[in-house]
Amino acid sequence: MTSLVLWLKALHIMAFAAWMAGMWYLPRLMVYHADTPAGSACSETFKVMERRLLRAITTPAMIVTVLLGIWLATAQAQWRDGWLHVKLLLVVIMLAVHGLLVRHVREFATDKRERSGRYFRMLNEAPTVLFIGIVLFAVLKPF
Ligand code: HEM
Repeated sequence: MTSLVLWLKALHIMAFAAWMAGMWYLPRLMVYHADTPAGSACSETFKVMERRLLRAITTPAMIVTVLLGIWLATAQAQWRDGWLHVKLLLVVIMLAVHGLLVRHVREFATDKRERSGRYFRMLNEAPTVLFIGIVLFAVLKPF
């Protein structure tokens, strides 16, 4: 394995760790935000936290994870590998969850209360289940 691939893999792992930090923390903030009155000082604080977490960490880390993953797969000619296909299917679902969180940050920013705290607790589980599947396929490469 070339040192370039080792560097790409190390940076890839750092990037998805930051992405996952946002994917776990954002819905957790929304669990509590959903139960605060619109316009309250607490709600305004949650808005700032959600916006900054999304724009400064979660979205940039997602973009870097995907670009490094594409570079890794190209550098190692892995696009025909079955494990990568399944992994990418799970990553596409993770991207859909990311998109949902972007939508919810916008809803809270305009004081909409469309969903309950219970909904965000359940949404919080999705990145965990996907993450376990993605890492297992990336490391074990079963086929
Ligand atoms: C949350 C998203 C992701 C996670 C948690 C993740 C996780 C991992 C892990 C743990 C490794 C190291 C595997 C090893 O050393 O054996 C890895 C490598 C890799 N990842 Fe990702 N990855 C993610 C997204 C992506 C994306 C979007 C792509 C896009 C193509 C990708 C492509 C790759 C490739 C090609 C490798 C190198 C595999 C190898 O040669 O060992 N990953 N990923």
